[in-house]
Amino acid sequence: MAIFSKDLGIDLGTMFIRLADSTQVLLEEPTIVAIDDEEQKIVALGQEALDMVGRVPESIEIARPLVNGVIADYEITETLLAYFMRRVSGTMRIFRPRTMVSVPYGVTSVERRAVYEAVMEAGSREAYLIQQTLAAALGIDLPIRSPSGNMVIYLGGGGTEASVMAMYAIVSAETLRGGGIELDKAIINYIRKKYGVIIGQVTAEKLKIRIGAAVPQDLEQSMEVQGQDQVTGLPSPITLTTGEIVEALQDPLKDILETCRRVLEKTPPELVADIIDRGVALCGGGALLRGIDKLLTQSLGIPAYLVDNPLTCVVEGTVRGLGMYNLLRRNLPQV
Ligand SMILES: Nc1ncnc2c1ncn2[C@@H]1O[C@H](COP(=O)(O)OP(=O)(O)O)[C@@H](O)[C@H]1O
Ligand SMILES: [Mg+2]
Repeated sequence: MAIFSKDLGIDLGTMFIRLADSTQVLLEEPTIVAIDDEEQKIVALGQEALDMVGRVPESIEIARPLVNGVIADYEITETLLAYFMRRVSGTMRIFRPRTMVSVPYGVTSVERRAVYEAVMEAGSREAYLIQQTLAAALGIDLPIRSPSGNMVIYLGGGGTEASVMAMYAIVSAETLRGGGIELDKAIINYIRKKYGVIIGQVTAEKLKIRIGAAVPQDLEQSMEVQGQDQVTGLPSPITLTTGEIVEALQDPLKDILETCRRVLEKTPPELVADIIDRGVALCGGGALLRGIDKLLTQSLGIPAYLVDNPLTCVVEGTVRGLGMYNLLRRNLPQV
């Protein structure tokens, strides 16, 4: 049986899809497609589609089939999944995989069903869902088997989730439909208000990643970007500093802190005591924002730390989840 079956883990994120088997991460691609409007067909998927942004005729439109972690366009999602699954398949072409796919905490039964159907249609033999933070906890080897509390904060592009787990189950959790993309928007708004200059989302994200931070830094960096004057529409280069990006990010970061605080409020005191001892694990792409560990540590009064594999822990955890399905099944989202 084991020889002929293959386990496949899928992290179906708003910004990135990742696929892994039990030995390695097999694929990482942007969750994006390019559609030709006139012919109504998909012309590129994943990275190839992302490379087209801003460089293609107007009849080609770029679409993200997931919004805030949930499927907004079912058909495109299924097409993307089928395409990527085929690409990593190898022997799976004949022996269809057993699949586990991560979903945000608190998705509705309709949304769960949509994810399940999509991975089945895309070529799975069996499919199971797992909460994203539970998968992350498995992927970073937290001792969630024990009855003591563990906390994970997942900072994704489309959403933020904080959850406390014990004995393979989620004890308390909160989801914020807004993550890295909201940070990019905050940078766009800040620059428009302060300088009257418009920049795009890709540029805003670059500023965030290259010079951005969650708290003021000793080393102040700067970066020049090309914008467009709000009034004249003419090209308008501006230089931004780390301090300005920190300022721009304060509002959306407050929302993230509030979400984490609400989870702690709902968590039984014994478990909170465990979390104070162990710290809070930060994962997802947003965990790479400079100083976000410091900001969370200061505001929550609990040490927060960046995990070793913030980008891949969810997908790695989904495969592990398949391996321990019998231990987890009671606590997994049902379809
Ligand atoms: N170094 C970085 N600093 C801040 N944000 C980052 C950094 N690297 C990636 N990100 C952000 O992480 C998000 C993508 O993370 P990911 O966990 O893959 O998202 P999702 O689960 O929504 O697909 C994007 O919003 C991206 O801007
Ligand atoms: Mg993700």
